[in-house]
Amino acid sequence: MTETMTKSAELIGLEENFGAHNYHPIPVVLDKGEGVYVWDVEGKKYFDFLSAYSAVNQGHCHPRIIKALTTQAQKLTLCSRAFYNSQLGEYEKFITDFFGYDKVLPMNTGVEGGETAVKLARRWAYDVKGVKENQAKIVFAKGNFWGRTLAAISSSNDPSSFKGFGPFMPGYELVDYNDLTALENAIKDPNTAAFMVEPIQGEAGVIVPTEGYLKGVRNLCTKYNVLFIADEVQTGLARTGKMLACDHEGVKPDILVLGKALSGGILPVSAVLASNEIMLTIKPGEHGSTYGGNPLACAVAMEALKVLKDEKLAENAEALGVIFREEMIKLQNSTDIVTAVRGKGLFNAIVIKEKNGKTAWDVCLKFAEEGLLAKPTHGDTIRFAPPLVITKDQLLEGIDIIKNVILSFD
Ligand SMILES: Cc1ncc(COP(=O)(O)O)c(C=O)c1O
Repeated sequence: MTETMTKSAELIGLEENFGAHNYHPIPVVLDKGEGVYVWDVEGKKYFDFLSAYSAVNQGHCHPRIIKALTTQAQKLTLCSRAFYNSQLGEYEKFITDFFGYDKVLPMNTGVEGGETAVKLARRWAYDVKGVKENQAKIVFAKGNFWGRTLAAISSSNDPSSFKGFGPFMPGYELVDYNDLTALENAIKDPNTAAFMVEPIQGEAGVIVPTEGYLKGVRNLCTKYNVLFIADEVQTGLARTGKMLACDHEGVKPDILVLGKALSGGILPVSAVLASNEIMLTIKPGEHGSTYGGNPLACAVAMEALKVLKDEKLAENAEALGVIFREEMIKLQNSTDIVTAVRGKGLFNAIVIKEKNGKTAWDVCLKFAEEGLLAKPTHGDTIRFAPPLVITKDQLLEGIDIIKNVILSFD
């Protein structure tokens, strides 16, 4: 190692040498976070316009959530579900009241939430709907992303997710996103247990369906006695300008999957919410997780949800999202590099056209140089999802960076 090597370069080298190469990060090494800002190991300050893929909706290291964490961490962190704990029941009552469901099943990561939903739907299909054993079908939308387990990638039509990892989970069917006719044709099949869908597709590039799509999904699922599973792991918890993205159309899914911001970025916490009819089909010993429902996670999640409401973060996302898209559309009108602007609340994306060999990746590198962090998804799309505690002035500052950088590529 040379004397002149920066701390960042040294730390990137360690990851390169000793870590699996399953990510391709923007070359900044973060060390500290507070609210909408993060700092790298050299002390440079950035706007975080990714928010850990919307896990940090409440802002980095939110003092109330950190306090809930440290208070509980000094008392009891984990005792497994072999015993009851003093936080779980309170959390379960809190979150089911908060979202209006009978029951919750606590897990850790988002993908475990999705797996749980799929298992519940299959069990419900056999026990309640009367589907013959091993015949249950789950329908997904093309472009979906719900994690990296084998069950999740089995529903993916993105080769970078599934290629080279087969064989895959049977009993799945894919339909086009935002296509109610295709959905109806698929779920008419009496073996259909559920349709699982993101109300706005995140990893696919913030794909917002036509207004009325979610209502249509709700109606079709009701008509054919099929469970509507909403994967709100990324869209939920105030990101799109409502507590849930489904709230924009006033629809209630049969199974709701939450994760990411359920802990405000503090530790992995996910949850699956459903009615008694669905949830009670799973009996003791048939599903669970060592860390699911641990007292630390329960204390953190309760506080994280309270912060969303107390600080009116959905309202902030709604109001600032309008400004953000207005400014991005102005930018689009003044350059041919930006070919699309889309989103809802503070969940937005722009599409970048390659120019002079420069791509969305180069744009993001330049953003970082100028003090704003964002990352391309699917090559040409840049998602912008700042923490929802962002103020109007901070947002305008971020918008200035975005505009100046993009115009410098024109
Ligand atoms: C919509 C959606 N569902 C599920 C997941 C998986 O969450 P996790 O990475 O916590 O397993 C993600 C992750 O990005 C997601 O965007």
